[in-house]
Amino acid sequence: MNSPLATLNTQWRLIARPAGEVGREHFQVTRPPLPEPGLGEVRVRNLYLLIPPSMRLWMNEKETYFPPQPLGEVMAGITLGVVESSQDPSLVPGDYVNGLGGCQEWFVAPAAQLQKISPRPGVPLAAYRSVLDVQGLTAWCGLTEIGRPQAGETLVVTAAAGSVGSLVCQIGKRLGLRVIGIAGGAEKCAWLRDECGVDGVIDYRHDDVAARLDALCPEGIDIVYENVGGPVMDMLIERLRFKGRVVLCGLVSSYNGGVTQNTGSLMTLVNKAARMEGFLVSEYLHRYQEVVGTLQEWVADGSLKYQIEVLEGLDSVVDAIGRVFRGQNRGVQLVKISDEGQR
Ligand SMILES: NC(=O)c1ccc[n+]([C@@H]2O[C@H](COP(=O)([O-])OP(=O)(O)OC[C@H]3O[C@@H](n4cnc5c(N)ncnc54)[C@H](OP(=O)(O)O)[C@@H]3O)[C@@H](O)[C@H]2O)c1
Repeated sequence: MNSPLATLNTQWRLIARPAGEVGREHFQVTRPPLPEPGLGEVRVRNLYLLIPPSMRLWMNEKETYFPPQPLGEVMAGITLGVVESSQDPSLVPGDYVNGLGGCQEWFVAPAAQLQKISPRPGVPLAAYRSVLDVQGLTAWCGLTEIGRPQAGETLVVTAAAGSVGSLVCQIGKRLGLRVIGIAGGAEKCAWLRDECGVDGVIDYRHDDVAARLDALCPEGIDIVYENVGGPVMDMLIERLRFKGRVVLCGLVSSYNGGVTQNTGSLMTLVNKAARMEGFLVSEYLHRYQEVVGTLQEWVADGSLKYQIEVLEGLDSVVDAIGRVFRGQNRGVQLVKISDEGQR
């Protein structure tokens, strides 16, 4: 953890591209002097670092929706921080900001590249770097814009107890859908059923997934919200109803490499005149205020359930990434870089 009297920054730099799982050996820690803001810039102390599964993809040489992480540079990271010094009138010390602050304690950026947030009483600050941001927008827009749900339809969600998935399940219920969640382990399934109110759960680690799908979706599936990929995705595509929709949000089971898709299942898209469409949250930033505003109401009145798991300190970055791929995270995985109250 950093100290208010610190004169040195701590930065995690990617120095080698992982072939499979991310390890400590892929990073180097450097300690340069604290950066000073120039005109139009601010210095921000990072509080929370989001650990999305896609962070693993940024480490590859191949471009994704993000440019590949350059080797030797500070690892990119989605952060929430507090402004400490400002050379721009739009932000003052003490303001909270979301931004791409990277895996480091402090950073300097143009004020115009940061998003000021005004936390509402009773809503934890960490929620603004998680459900009340990218994940919320992803869940809402992926389901409504690509899934185009109609009340009474059957929705199946993969990685359903995760950060995006659990929001999709709950938004689906509010839209009058029959929601089936697929997650790893009895505890996650119980949380989905008891807290998020889904209609059926499948524990893909222990259940016979195909048999459970046939029992829970005897008429087939109208919408698949796909976060995982692999063999379960094939089973879902094969059970699509006529004019079914697949929201392709992510394929987390392949991010460390190794998982392939059975393209034979794709013939179902032809047979059922179904649609599979990729979703990218950056296409929907124009809906941010509307969607996050509504989710904030639901968080504040306690009706939207979410879980945030926090590991302490930048030294836990590798562990945090590993937890997401081992399914050990309960909801959003964050790393706390410094204390909220520290000045
Ligand atoms: N397209 C976009 O714009 C966009 C934006 C944000 C997120 N996403 C995608 O949304 C998905 C969910 O992201 P999230 O941030 O909400 O993460 P998350 O669901 O909170 O965490 C990932 C979960 O995926 C499951 N998982 C990991 N490795 C797996 C494997 N090999 N096989 C099966 N399941 C595995 C684990 O759940 P279990 O314990 O249940 O296995 C894990 O908890 C990801 O695919 C991500 O890339 C896309």
